[in-house]
Amino acid sequence: MPYKLLFVCLGNICRSPSAENIMNHLIEQAGLSDGSANPKGIRILCDSAGTSSYHVGSPPDRRMSAAAATKLGIKLRGRARQFQKSDFQDFDLILAMDRENYENILSLDRTKQYQHKVRLICEFCSRYTLKEVPDPYYGGQEGFNQVIDLLIDACEGLLTKVKSQEL
Ligand code: 4NP
Repeated sequence: MPYKLLFVCLGNICRSPSAENIMNHLIEQAGLSDGSANPKGIRILCDSAGTSSYHVGSPPDRRMSAAAATKLGIKLRGRARQFQKSDFQDFDLILAMDRENYENILSLDRTKQYQHKVRLICEFCSRYTLKEVPDPYYGGQEGFNQVIDLLIDACEGLLTKVKSQEL
């Protein structure tokens, strides 16, 4: 069984698709893309979603894609979708970008049985002390670049935890 990660922000066009694609990049770099071929048989699957329906079907924001290309040389893939209740069952870990996303996700878990699966992604940072990934949407290009740096730190920490099965 693969370990399934879901990254969640508001629009699913900036922060969470970046986290998903950065994590896939790190998984590939670590030689963990193919679960059967890697020594520990670890297989990790990543997806992302937004708490809102504002941008459903849209590709990642071009400013976010530019930042990912410049800083990491990766292309952001995917189309926005809205978080849905079935995601609570379908994923092992749900990573919110900020507290608002976190609260909005938890409010959909009426029976409170999935709260343990929902975490703030910045918990996994080791170099940055920020508690949330700032929403870059209404700001300038520098904000998008900073999101990439912060998410690299968070995703590296997260990959270490997933690999050591300390979650
Ligand atoms: P994201 O950024 O949540 O990181 O995808 C945003 C995208 C769109 C909007 C806000 C934030 N919006 O208000 O449309």
